[in-house]
Amino acid sequence: MATLGVNIDHIANVRQARRTIEPDPVQFAFLAELGGADSITVHLREDRRHIQDRDVFILKETIKTKLNLEMAATEEMLEISKKLLPDYVTLVPEKREEVTTEGGLDVKNNEKYLKNFVKSLKYSNIQVSAFIDPESEQINYSKEIGFDFIELHTGKYADLNGEDQYKELQKIIESSYVANDIGLVVNAGHGLNYQNVQKIASINNMNELNIGHSIVARALAVGLEKSVREMKSLITLNSISK
Ligand code: PXP
Repeated sequence: MATLGVNIDHIANVRQARRTIEPDPVQFAFLAELGGADSITVHLREDRRHIQDRDVFILKETIKTKLNLEMAATEEMLEISKKLLPDYVTLVPEKREEVTTEGGLDVKNNEKYLKNFVKSLKYSNIQVSAFIDPESEQINYSKEIGFDFIELHTGKYADLNGEDQYKELQKIIESSYVANDIGLVVNAGHGLNYQNVQKIASINNMNELNIGHSIVARALAVGLEKSVREMKSLITLNSISK
């Protein structure tokens, strides 16, 4: 059964809109855990547009599940993660002008740099995941570089409809098997919501789904604990009915 990683960046987005102290993502991480989150994901961006350094260090001390730090593969982030020691790091591409992470990390064309980067994180006992598009080449390079996990980008799947969405789903399923066969643990995320999550959750070897926007959006109506609980039950129900 896939587990649920809750991304709480959007809580920090609301706080940063006023540069104040509320809402505090640390308090909301607690509610996400009460609702059944299996891990808490935060993206510490170079421009600090939402999550701040203070957040990640307090979360590391206060959460009871696991901390997944999303970050770009920069020297600054390497230093922070070595001090923080999160349970795992997910490497993502980062562009200043983007609204959210667009596309997966190009591990193929950054092999040498990423090999050293991943080695350095693993030396600090941090497991490392690569956020990549569902393509065999990127998967094989992820293994070669030394990643423990991959997170398959589901953004395209989420944006498509009908036959096109079905084709993208097949691509994600095939990619998950390719990755599993060579010993990579498979996560997935981006754009998943209450309508489209179950097809991804029902992929046999799916380890964890990372979901942020839809859960936080629904939390405005029902509260975060409930919105997490509802997402978790969709994922869990799915595996029972398989
Ligand atoms: N996984 C990764 C690597 C991401 O960058 C994001 C967005 O921050 C997510 C998952 C969550 O995506 P969403 O907010 O669309 O659920």
